[in-house]
Amino acid sequence: MDGIRFNRRAAEGASAAESETSAQLLTKQGDFEVVLHRITGESVAWLYPASDPAAMEYFFIHKGGVDLVLDDGVVSLGAGESFTVSGLKHDVPVKMLKDSELVYVTNCPAFEAAEHFDVSLKELLARIDEKDHYTTRHSKAVLQYSLALYDAMKDRGPDIPRDDLAIAALFHDVGKCFVPVEILQKPDRLEHAEMRYILRHPVDSGRMLLPNFGEQIAEIARNHHERLDGSGYPRGLRAEDISLSSQIVAVADVFDAMTTDRGYNTVKGFFEAAEELIALSHQFDKRITSVLMQLVSSGSLEEGGAAAHE
Ligand SMILES: [Fe+2]
Ligand SMILES: [Fe+2]
Repeated sequence: MDGIRFNRRAAEGASAAESETSAQLLTKQGDFEVVLHRITGESVAWLYPASDPAAMEYFFIHKGGVDLVLDDGVVSLGAGESFTVSGLKHDVPVKMLKDSELVYVTNCPAFEAAEHFDVSLKELLARIDEKDHYTTRHSKAVLQYSLALYDAMKDRGPDIPRDDLAIAALFHDVGKCFVPVEILQKPDRLEHAEMRYILRHPVDSGRMLLPNFGEQIAEIARNHHERLDGSGYPRGLRAEDISLSSQIVAVADVFDAMTTDRGYNTVKGFFEAAEELIALSHQFDKRITSVLMQLVSSGSLEEGGAAAHE
């Protein structure tokens, strides 16, 4: 891909001082800055195209590793490897592994750019929206449907606070930021290699939610494509290993997918979709799908997730 050069040879002699901060200016000389980025949990950063065409950025991985998510695939780099960024045409997500340290050298003063290093989930959702508007609309719809189901079932047991379910539902697909837009929007059947991107998005969503929101919320995102009979992905879990909250988001997720025009599917009406989900009782919990049918029958759900419930 244009704009990034890798150096896979192990470099010698580079070392960085221990630091408690996630971004520390090590030295500055004229327009040159050397910054140490220290990552204690898994996180996502972005490489941005520089406004100055002469700008150059160099990253040396001192410890840990990164995954660069490029148009033509993911490049994993580990300790002792490095990459140079110059003339980048568009944003590139960088997944940084736990306990990594990167020495960053640039010829355009950019220490304040370090502020951008960690991206909040909301920003991430906005970035996904730039790539694929469907995902943002879908996320909001899944949030509304999940909360409607939760409210209707709250005496019957989702063992999670309402706000936690809301976070998990809204950000369940945030891992899609690693899926190239061509794959997200491809109308045809996906090739095997392309499918691998799709299959890992729940895992990435879970990883991204875990550091800030904990395991219960991460688990919902990780398992929103799991099915009761073990036919789901990424792990093929079975009913006993999937929480009721995950199953609520799973039902909301597929209900929105069935009732929305994604360019390649047959759009179903609310009643038809709910009926179909009830029939799929080997995959979707009947306690949830029957509540969904009640909500649909009573007109409590509105299209696009604009729910009529409180
Ligand atoms: Fe998903
Ligand atoms: Fe989804």
